[in-house]
Amino acid sequence: MLTVRDIRKNAILRLEGIGDDSARLDVDLLLAAALGIGVLDIILEPGRRVPDPGAALFQALLLRRMAREPVAQILGKKAFWNHEFTVSRACLTPRPDSEILIESALKVITDRQKTLKILDLGTGSGCLLLSLMAELPNSHGVGVDISDPALAVARANAERLGFEQRCDFIISDWAEQLPLSAKFDIILANPPYIALTEKPSLAPEVRNYEPALALFADDGGLREYRRLAKIIPGIIAGGGHAFLEIGWQQGAQVMDIFTKAIAPNINNIKNIRIIPDLAGRDRCVAINFG
Ligand SMILES: C[S@@+](CC[C@H](N)C(=O)[O-])C[C@H]1O[C@@H](n2cnc3c(N)ncnc32)[C@H](O)[C@@H]1O
Repeated sequence: MLTVRDIRKNAILRLEGIGDDSARLDVDLLLAAALGIGVLDIILEPGRRVPDPGAALFQALLLRRMAREPVAQILGKKAFWNHEFTVSRACLTPRPDSEILIESALKVITDRQKTLKILDLGTGSGCLLLSLMAELPNSHGVGVDISDPALAVARANAERLGFEQRCDFIISDWAEQLPLSAKFDIILANPPYIALTEKPSLAPEVRNYEPALALFADDGGLREYRRLAKIIPGIIAGGGHAFLEIGWQQGAQVMDIFTKAIAPNINNIKNIRIIPDLAGRDRCVAINFG
């Protein structure tokens, strides 16, 4: 019978061979899942004997990873902020970079007990909406997406985390299907922002496994920001805040789009700023509406 050590060593070499930068971690996560034990057990018990069925299941998972399927999709889950989210090929895998939207929103909310209305445009797995709602016990959330399969994932996450009574999910091209009178205190949006020309340079995990609807936008990646800049002022409550994720080189352009698009007599911008992510790269445009 093979040991954890034997299996790990061989699998790490195979994943390094295909250029997997996180080969060690990926092997540990997949092996732990295949054996139904924790990652720490894998690391602390290298001499543990692996029964044949467990080894066979691990080899099947490893083959999927060798085909560049993301670990999160193989495992069907991904940690984001304070929770684990169900993920599938139908939705973007939540990225740690996006947590800056949650952090930034929480910084401007002075009273977390307040009844706040939150809108998440392009909700995908629901990770942004549900993470923020978890911090605001009296909030109500609406998650919008143009993809029905993505919304099914968001709904499943809302149910699993116990938020289904506090949120609605709506299929819509941005705000098109929202009630005309709807106004929100906080708007989150992580729209598709990758230029189609960048497609060949993306990692196969992204290019081949993440939904194109979640990734690509026309006009060099800026089209959806141009659309959202026209929509958001009409659906934000007075004094509300919007937080948009951006590509790390899009800060100046997105600021410019929003500053120019927002007419002074609707909801004027009180403040607009760029917020960097943990790596220090521009990641979020935050707008405070007067
Ligand atoms: C970058 S993903 C973000 C997913 C999730 N909010 C996150 O941060 O992980 C963009 C999402 O926007 C959705 N989307 C793209 N175009 C849309 C549109 N015109 N109206 C509504 N949703 C759209 C996609 O289906 C996808 O789920």
